Amino acid sequence: MKICVVGTGYVGLVSCACFADLGNDVIGVDVDQAKVENLRKGILPIFEPGVKELVDRHLGKRLRFTTNLKEGVLASDFIFIAVGTPPGQNGEADLTYVKEVAAGIGRHLNGPKIVVDKSTVPVGMGDLVDSIMEENCGGEYRVDVVSNPEFLREGSAVHDFMNPDRILIGAENRQAAEKVSELYKPLDAEIVITDLRSAEMIKYASNAFLATKITFINEIANLCERVNADVSKVAHGMGLDTRIGPAFLNAGAGYGGSCFPKDVMALIHIANKEGYEFKVLKAVVEANDFQKRSMIGRIKEVLGPLEGKQIAALGLSFKPNTDDLREAVALDVIRNLVDNGARVRAYDPAAMEHAKALLPGVKFAENAYAAAEGAHCLVIFTEWNEFKEMDLERVKNAMRSPVIVDGRNIYDPAKVKALGFTYRGVGRK
Ligand SMILES: NC(=O)c1ccc[n+]([C@@H]2O[C@H](COP(=O)([O-])OP(=O)(O)OC[C@H]3O[C@@H](n4cnc5c(N)ncnc54)[C@H](O)[C@@H]3O)[C@@H](O)[C@H]2O)c1
Repeated sequence: MKICVVGTGYVGLVSCACFADLGNDVIGVDVDQAKVENLRKGILPIFEPGVKELVDRHLGKRLRFTTNLKEGVLASDFIFIAVGTPPGQNGEADLTYVKEVAAGIGRHLNGPKIVVDKSTVPVGMGDLVDSIMEENCGGEYRVDVVSNPEFLREGSAVHDFMNPDRILIGAENRQAAEKVSELYKPLDAEIVITDLRSAEMIKYASNAFLATKITFINEIANLCERVNADVSKVAHGMGLDTRIGPAFLNAGAGYGGSCFPKDVMALIHIANKEGYEFKVLKAVVEANDFQKRSMIGRIKEVLGPLEGKQIAALGLSFKPNTDDLREAVALDVIRNLVDNGARVRAYDPAAMEHAKALLPGVKFAENAYAAAEGAHCLVIFTEWNEFKEMDLERVKNAMRSPVIVDGRNIYDPAKVKALGFTYRGVGRK
């Protein structure tokens, strides 16, 4: 099949690479000239395991990149929209980029096409994309709009694209939906075909539900601290119940990232517009803000006043195996530490280059041990495997005082304490 993917960010680039690997001819289109020039040389704009290998395998054969949307539209039967839908001023999704792309596709249409929206967009956007395209092409060609929300997780995006729990396809025209489902046939995954608006809602509802689940266990963790219970044991016991399940029950410093915060806000906004108050989600936002702020309290509890203290911050990206810093909890907490007079030396395996511009006043170390050198306290923000496997004896010897605040509960408290650390996790005895 001939596929154009507009937007070559985390979702778009992974889609380009995976669709090419599944045997399709793929053109990735992006407005960012530097990004496209680099992609043509096989230099990736993002850190995402497995993507480089696929791009290297298919570049110049089944995969190419351009800044020219017209070229992509003319050459393709399927045009995927995978541009960003960042939060707008009041929390609503900013649809500028999706609208721009819809207008561009409309202008360049040269025949019937299927336009597939992979970006996360509010309910009703598919209809709007349809009418924008029609306005711009003068109604000359038949274009079907299909919603195909993406559920991949950064850090395991290629695996998730190739092994999805389900493929969701929403369309008013069943034939168009079936044509899109053909693209995914090689994956042997369950394909759910539904109407356009329900598909758009499923994406927001899923993300909002996951954010709620994380927030729920975080609140249980806060309560565990007060009643002297251990949230890791509580989560294990809860997760064995098949009605609940173990995923997304890891208590910690709060959720962040490019999707959950913005999608929760966007869903609240969608509800508001309809005159409905989504009370649970409002509480989720408030509780998550509290969770992030409460990390400062946890650090102060074991360290006392922060003024003049040296803190080693491990992990900056919002989750492991990505360099994505959007809404990363570490950024908020580190800025707060600096405002409170602490000196911070940070280390992240993939996100430091981008972080330097976002964290003025923070020093950066070339590895975790160097970050720990002379520190009064080491704070874990992201659960990268290399932090789980650190030589803690060596860390202790490097530190000025052996104190760990574990914002992701990656260590066994008993073992860390036996090594002589003061240990503070989230929701653990
Ligand atoms: N990142 C994730 O884990 C994830 C997962 C599922 C869904 N989503 C959704 O997918 C969408 C894309 O997210 P992302 O994280 O890949 O975004 P991103 O910011 O990484 O990438 C967006 C890309 O679109 C490009 N772009 C913007 N306007 C354009 C235009 N007019 N023409 C061509 N290219 C243009 C940008 O230059 C950028 O490269 C969002 O709606 C997001 O909510 C993201």
